[in-house]
Amino acid sequence: MQTIEKFNFAGKKAIVRVDFNVPLDENGKITDDTRIRGALPTLKKILADGGAVIIMSHMGKPKGKPAAKYSLSQIVEPVSEKLGVEVKFAPDCAQAAEAAAALKPGEALMLENLRFYAEEEGKPVGIEKDDPAYEAAKKEMKAKQKEFAKTLAGYADCYVNDAFGTAHRKHASTAVIADYFDADNKMLGYLMEKEVQAVDNILSNIKRPFVAIMGGSKVSTKIGIIENLLGKVDKLILCGGMTYTFAKAHGGEIGTSIVEMDKLDVALGVEELAKKNGVQLVLGSDCVATDGLDFGTMTVKPGSQIINCPANAVPAGLEGVDAGPESRKAFAEAIKGAKTILWNGPAGVFECDDFCDGSRAIGEAIAQATKEGAFSLIGGGDSVACVNKFGLADQVSYISTGGGALLEAIEGKVLPGVAAIKGE
Ligand code: 3PG
Repeated sequence: MQTIEKFNFAGKKAIVRVDFNVPLDENGKITDDTRIRGALPTLKKILADGGAVIIMSHMGKPKGKPAAKYSLSQIVEPVSEKLGVEVKFAPDCAQAAEAAAALKPGEALMLENLRFYAEEEGKPVGIEKDDPAYEAAKKEMKAKQKEFAKTLAGYADCYVNDAFGTAHRKHASTAVIADYFDADNKMLGYLMEKEVQAVDNILSNIKRPFVAIMGGSKVSTKIGIIENLLGKVDKLILCGGMTYTFAKAHGGEIGTSIVEMDKLDVALGVEELAKKNGVQLVLGSDCVATDGLDFGTMTVKPGSQIINCPANAVPAGLEGVDAGPESRKAFAEAIKGAKTILWNGPAGVFECDDFCDGSRAIGEAIAQATKEGAFSLIGGGDSVACVNKFGLADQVSYISTGGGALLEAIEGKVLPGVAAIKGE
């Protein structure tokens, strides 16, 4: 298999799929540049070899149509700064042949958001799956997707996939494009190699105890990985909004806390599976609840109530928004002594300074365990934002740029973005 380290880019044009789907504030300023920093070693190596680089990415979910708020033009300047060269911009990713051809060694070009074309995702638009014409539309779109991938491939001599965050998508730029390059001219980037190695560390080199912490608001979106982890870990901490679905499943009172009423049986099933597999399941016993969180500004409205209460006895009109002191202690205790740790999803509304203590307790316990020899892997935008917020980024073993991709990889699923290069 070709590798980025071996490949000499001198005089070549490389098209590189990165995941620059970075969070922006209301002024279009990047609020977390982890993903950009992650791709720099690959981009810099190409330029340093004397190659030219064509950077391509998606941002957000524009559903096949241009939308200013998802324009990658917003990040050209910060990327130029970090890369140390002035990055040119192609405002239409499918009409960039001329700009690509004009690139000289050491120059860089960024294409506009790939998802402004429905061909990138390759899903037919405006037609439901139960429509009799759906299959024909799908076939037509797949053909268009190949054409789109071929156009992108035509810009360059070689292809590098460094977009781990999008590696679980079988899209034109992440997988289909690889068909237009021979094995010697396509490769994973440094970030992809590192990410795949980090997952491998978790899966094939598990040192025990293995503790996973899954947070976030919904049990439904995490059930696949939770069930999978229950076959691997020694302890599983479940926190964040899903706490209240578990509390409700046992008949608890949860006030106005987030809950999935149609997933109560799923929650009970998780508890049963944990028991069957001998996994210690740790759920928050108490919480911090309020009636005044403004989700727009992430602040508490003046005069609002903030109380600690049992997670299964939240008073009417109040909402659980963070793990309480007992839960924090239990989480830290469960993490103590771990030798392998995976964290995905916060324990509360960490964006609000009043409700980040649960996530902080988890982050600090992970940092301590890492100091004592654990391998700790943190993934998913929110958990990464937490370790950054608490200044713990350099005290954990590995911060993944992947959210969904990381979880699918941990589940043992083949990632199309990786398979397209490795030929699996
Ligand atoms: C992510 O943010 O997880 C990746 O960029 C993938 O985005 P997607 O879920 O919109 O495909």
